Amino acid sequence: MKPLVIAVDGPAASGKGTLARRLAKALGLPYLDTGLLYRAVARAVLDAGGNPADPALAASAARALTPAALERTDLRTPEVDRAASMVAQLPEVRAALLDFQRNFAAEHGAVLDGRDIGTVVLPDAPIKLFVTASLAERAKRRWRERKDRGEVATLAEVQAELAERDRADVERTVAPLRPAADAVLLDTTTLDVEATFRAAQAIVRERLAAMNASSLT
Ligand code: DC
Repeated sequence: MKPLVIAVDGPAASGKGTLARRLAKALGLPYLDTGLLYRAVARAVLDAGGNPADPALAASAARALTPAALERTDLRTPEVDRAASMVAQLPEVRAALLDFQRNFAAEHGAVLDGRDIGTVVLPDAPIKLFVTASLAERAKRRWRERKDRGEVATLAEVQAELAERDRADVERTVAPLRPAADAVLLDTTTLDVEATFRAAQAIVRERLAAMNASSLT
């Protein structure tokens, strides 16, 4: 039997990361936050004093990426948010990161979260979730996270940054953010972490039952 692969896509601060991590734990699967790949590439370019919009520089950082680079604790700063969004626009960078993501999933199965997992990275994944929430709700969540980390930013600033990242994710020409045709949509605007997990569990159970039924016929 092929190892189980679950694709979880959606916009920033939709709750997809928390959900994907939890699903992976519940199912005993490895978990990969693919946003960290783009963040680590951005960090490497910034460390080298380079421009994150430079395709040759960013692609060479992507090719040199090691799993240890994903463990860095400085990948979630506002500076890296902006630079990651820039390197993610570059087709050379996206191509260089494809094998890493596919090999990770192929080894033991996995839950991967990102923007293009169900559409580009793993289009054959048997279970795909597309997690969304309203911009206002996502801004509130991200603002609270930042406040807890001691960062100063107003809710309006955080919402404007998120709107800009949404625009960049949705409008880019390579691998834009959109639900795969066979993804199940999960709107978490009015759901807390627990309710989101329960809703996703129900979707996964249903898909697994359908897969088992079709393998028996
Ligand atoms: O999910 P995140 O905020 O950590 O993602 C960081 C950046 O990388 C963000 O600008 C979107 C981009 N990204 C992407 O283009 N494709 C992915 N599979 C994951 C993230």
